[in-house]
Amino acid sequence: MSMQTEVNVKLNELDSQQLIKKPFSPYPRPVRDVHQVELSTRCNLRCHYCPHFPELPRKKEDMTREVFYATLDLVRHYVRQGTQTELSLTGIGEAMLHPDFVEFAALTREVIGPQRQLTITTNGLLLDEAMAVAIAPLRPHVFISLHRPEKAGLAVQVAKKHGILAGVNESFVTSAFDWAGSMKDRWFVSAPRIPCEYLRSGWAVVLVDGRVATCCLDVDGSSTVGTVWDKPETLMLKPWVGEKGAGCSSCHMSVP
Ligand SMILES: C[S@@+](CC[C@H](N)C(=O)[O-])C[C@H]1O[C@@H](n2cnc3c(N)ncnc32)[C@H](O)[C@@H]1O
Ligand code: SF4
Ligand code: SF4
Repeated sequence: MSMQTEVNVKLNELDSQQLIKKPFSPYPRPVRDVHQVELSTRCNLRCHYCPHFPELPRKKEDMTREVFYATLDLVRHYVRQGTQTELSLTGIGEAMLHPDFVEFAALTREVIGPQRQLTITTNGLLLDEAMAVAIAPLRPHVFISLHRPEKAGLAVQVAKKHGILAGVNESFVTSAFDWAGSMKDRWFVSAPRIPCEYLRSGWAVVLVDGRVATCCLDVDGSSTVGTVWDKPETLMLKPWVGEKGAGCSSCHMSVP
């Protein structure tokens, strides 16, 4: 399932009473949760609806060990504080291309503990029997994106066999968005207009280089509010404005 669809599904599951009861504080609001970690900005596909195509406006690289360890320190902080929820190893890129993907996933499980959900969204190209055997003990919720059915189909089979398939994702067709306006000239929006959970709940995204971004729809890092080396109390979220009109005011989600 895509980052965005995960948000959509979760919000649909929340009843409106819960939304109303949740306390709001003025902006900027503190980060409460490292919701996503972008392990790699490299990819083995070129999907036309993704900012990866034709060229991601950020360096294509794998997260270094130094950045990853600092990210885990930040996650530990939110775990201790009691505000860390699920963590998704997903960004703009294919996480399984990271040479240390399995080890990093295992360390993530250790830090978030046995109860919190560890989510992995993948295009499935590298999800073979060996990968499934390696990650199954971590009990990940794996969402497989159906960009290339002839390849993703095999990954779906293997993930099912090992009991780690959480769902498939075709949101780029059925619940599409234009990455907060940054791709408005080449993709469409059909995702529902719901309140933004990143801003509402203080979810943050750690980019591959260690910058902390406000949400997963930030293509070029315009929404960053600090880095994983900063004191957590200085990481504060607010609606952001990006290049060429991208940002919260162009987003299909509403600012809560
Ligand atoms: C950017 S990808 C990264 C993870 C992995 N490479 C993959 O494709 O699953 C994360 C998710 O975003 C979704 N996605 C990409 N472009 C989209 C769009 N324009 N609208 C909706 N979902 C999109 C993909 O389907 C995928 O599930
Ligand atoms: S596989 Fe994922 S990251 Fe790669 S181009 Fe497609 S949607 Fe983007
Ligand atoms: S662009 Fe703004 S409103 Fe949209 S998901 Fe990101 S933070 Fe939320």
